Amino acid sequence: MQDLKTQAITYEDGVIRQFSIMAVVWGVVGMLVGVIIASQLVWPELNLGLPWTSFGRLRPLHTNAVIFAFGGCTLFATSYYVVQRTCQTKLFMPKLASFTFWGWQLVIVAAAISLPLGYTQGKEYAELEWPIDILIAIVWVSYAIVFFGTIGTRKVKHIYVANWFFGAFILTVALLHIVNSAAIPAGFMKSYSAYAGVQDAMVQWWYGHNAVGFFLTAGFLGIMYYFVPKQAERPVYSYSLSIVHFWALIFTYMWAGPHHLHYTALPDWTQSLGMAFSLILLAPSWGGMINGMMTMSGAWHKLRTDPILRFLIVSLSFYGMSTFEGPMMAIKTVNSLSHYTDWTVGHVHSGALGWVGLVSMGALYYMVPRLFGQKQMYSIKAIELHFWLATIGIVLYISSLWISGVMEGLMWRAINTDGTLTYTFVESVKAKHPYYMIRALGGLLYLSGMTIMLWNVIKTATSGKAAVVNIPAVTAHA
Ligand code: HEM
Ligand code: HEM
Repeated sequence: MQDLKTQAITYEDGVIRQFSIMAVVWGVVGMLVGVIIASQLVWPELNLGLPWTSFGRLRPLHTNAVIFAFGGCTLFATSYYVVQRTCQTKLFMPKLASFTFWGWQLVIVAAAISLPLGYTQGKEYAELEWPIDILIAIVWVSYAIVFFGTIGTRKVKHIYVANWFFGAFILTVALLHIVNSAAIPAGFMKSYSAYAGVQDAMVQWWYGHNAVGFFLTAGFLGIMYYFVPKQAERPVYSYSLSIVHFWALIFTYMWAGPHHLHYTALPDWTQSLGMAFSLILLAPSWGGMINGMMTMSGAWHKLRTDPILRFLIVSLSFYGMSTFEGPMMAIKTVNSLSHYTDWTVGHVHSGALGWVGLVSMGALYYMVPRLFGQKQMYSIKAIELHFWLATIGIVLYISSLWISGVMEGLMWRAINTDGTLTYTFVESVKAKHPYYMIRALGGLLYLSGMTIMLWNVIKTATSGKAAVVNIPAVTAHA
């Protein structure tokens, strides 16, 4: 027998407000750097002849800003929002939660200073030097304490599936970061990896691929499982499928990393294993995508009038697209064409702009008015405009890079009858020039949409008083 009792809960929303605003701010900054480096590839003079504004230094600044600052702040904000509401309880240790906000901002600022100055470990997505790595580990462990502490003090028996995805993301990122960042310091801001040669590469891409799998996928699936049903006002299509989706996804992702190292010194069987697991990964990925899409059953008509729902659902179609493309690119014969080409960068951005970007924007548009005590966003028309600018931007970005990537791959392997190469390398670079212009234009459109979002968020946040919403909750006692 359960004794149901109603009580009011005041959620800890201050830290969520902070993370939400900074997610949008860092989104604009990271995408601006993206547009700058995309323009540098069209007009190299934009490197300005200075080391700290050169492509090689700004590129990791872009990837760190969009993934860890924009994506990271969105994940902190949404996970803190969802865990409180689905567990019907306040955040565990709110002061520690506040520390995660300030600590994470410090990491971002340290990255923004050290990367242009040229301090780097040279490992993609793990460039930051050892003192910053230690700070990341401290912030992340605090995050885990807050999140799992909240789960542990929940007032409902069930742990909603979104929290499983957030939990897996938090635990796995801690593991990946700590193992891959193991290094011997050789002075302040200088270190050498604890691994050597091919082991170093293997550990790095075990990290790199699972950064995609857990930072850019599992966490955002947690977002999808809460915000799609909420905005569509429909229950998740199949809860059983969501459980199968969770276990299949987290088991499979772990093994797929070697697809980043095809045709290298890595043992051949490891490459084949990575390829096989990447192909298997299509099934759980699509299971999740279909579960999200089918949640719309009976609510499809809402897409005509609700731009926030459009962000969420179109993000799922890009998720489906990039998780079909990824397994195909993991097939060794396909990878022999795609590797080192712009096709990879196109694939990355169909996932990054289409899936990660759009689902984040949808969730932030859902949360912001609620966090600031408003009925809705300041301007719905601006959300509409943002949606179209983003969607057209993505299409221009990824289609131009598909053409340019496949073209350069084919040019590199073209051979004359006497066995000599048909094209010089520089001819392939020249042929890509028009496509780089289209990509820069696509990026500019995507960035303008994000800038409109920043204006809309600031207007929403400042047009009323930040209100703490008291929501009646049902608590169950055995
Ligand atoms: C305005 C939007 C954006 C523009 C114009 C842009 C542009 C670029 C450019 C020019 C590169 C370098 C490509 C190269 O080396 O050839 C790049 C790399 C990258 N970007 Fe973006 N980007 C944008 C948004 C994003 C977002 C939102 C994310 C993630 C959430 C992201 C993640 C990445 C990643 C992971 C790479 C490295 C790709 C690789 O190594 O293959 N980007 N971006
Ligand atoms: C079933 C899912 C997926 C599989 C099997 C997969 C597979 C691949 C493959 C084979 C590559 C090319 C490796 C190379 O030739 O160097 C790649 C690159 C990449 N993918 Fe995916 N992908 C998947 C989904 C995604 C999604 C959803 C995202 C983003 C949200 C993403 C982000 C990336 C990034 C950032 C890289 C570039 C890594 C680098 O070289 O810097 N992938 N992926």
